[in-house]
Amino acid sequence: MAKIYFPSFLDTYVLCILTLFAVMFIRSSARPTTFAEDFKAAWSESHIRQMDGGKAIQLVLDQSTGCGFASKRKYLFGRVSMKIKLIPGDSAGTVTAFYMNSDTNTVRDELDFEFLGNRSGQPYSVQTNIFAHGKGDREQRVNLWFDPALDFHTYTILWSHKHIVFYVDDVPIREYKNNEAKNIAYPTSQPMGVYSTLWEADDWATRGGLEKIDWKKAPFYAYYKDFDIEGCPVPGPTSCPSNPHNWWEGYAYQSLNAVEARRYRWVRVNHMVYDYCTDRSRFPVPPPECRA
Ligand SMILES: *[C@@H]1O[C@H](CO)[C@@H](O)[C@H](O)[C@H]1NC(C)=O
Repeated sequence: MAKIYFPSFLDTYVLCILTLFAVMFIRSSARPTTFAEDFKAAWSESHIRQMDGGKAIQLVLDQSTGCGFASKRKYLFGRVSMKIKLIPGDSAGTVTAFYMNSDTNTVRDELDFEFLGNRSGQPYSVQTNIFAHGKGDREQRVNLWFDPALDFHTYTILWSHKHIVFYVDDVPIREYKNNEAKNIAYPTSQPMGVYSTLWEADDWATRGGLEKIDWKKAPFYAYYKDFDIEGCPVPGPTSCPSNPHNWWEGYAYQSLNAVEARRYRWVRVNHMVYDYCTDRSRFPVPPPECRA
C-alpha cells in the first residue's frame, strides 16, 4: 500500500526555518545596491565619477569646486550605511560629510557625520551632530583609531523609535536616545534624505581653522561603495514607519548590546576629544538630553 505523506509538525518547523533563512538571504544579498539605484548627483555632477560599473564612486574636490550626492527618496526610520575611503595624506581644511536631513529649514531634523581632514600623519576627526525639530548644537568629536584613508570603512546611521546610533564599523561612537517622554526633542515625524558632500572648509575644519587647505595637493579624492539604505521610503506605504516588525525596531536594535556598550565606553574614554555635554563655556547648564 502506498504510503501517504503527511507533513509532520517537525517538517513544518524545518520548512519554516528554511523559509526564514531564504528570506534573510534574499534580503541581505539584495543589498548593497549600485549608486544610481538609490542616489543621484546633487551638486557638481562633473566631480562625481562612477566606478566599477556603478557600484562605487569617486568624489573630487579641486580649486574650482567640491561636490555632493543625495538619495532619490526620503526615509522615515531605518538604517543607512556606506563604505568610505577618505582623502589620503594631507587633507587639512577638507570636510567629507555623510548625513541625513529632512530639508525642512527651520524645523529641520538632521543626523551628521563630518570627517575633518588633517595634516599628514595626524588623526582624522569625526564630528557628529544631531538636529531635532530645528535645534542642533549637539556636536561631539572623536579622533579615529585607524587611518580612514588607507582602506574602506563602514559608516552607519541607525534611526529607530528607540534611539539613533552612529557606528564606525562595528563600533558605536554615539547614541542619542528617544527621551520624548522627558520632553527632549527627537526626530519622529519628518522623513530624511541621505546625503554626502566633499568640500573645502578651512576656516574651521582643522584645528579650528588654523590649518589651511594646501591646494598644491589638489585634486582631492574620496571613494564610496556598498550603498545600503533600509528604511521606510516616503512617499511609500503609510503603515511602514510605525510597523513594529521592521527589523531595525527589533529587540536587538532597541538598545546597545553588551559588546556594543563596551565598545562605546572604550571610544568615549580613549578617543573622544570634544563633547558639547561637558562644554561648560558653551553650556553652563548642560542641555537636558545630557542629563537624561
Ligand atoms: C588634527 O591633529 C591635531 C594634532 O594631533 C589634533 O589635535 C586634532 O584633533 C586633529 N584633528 C583636527 C580635525 O584638527
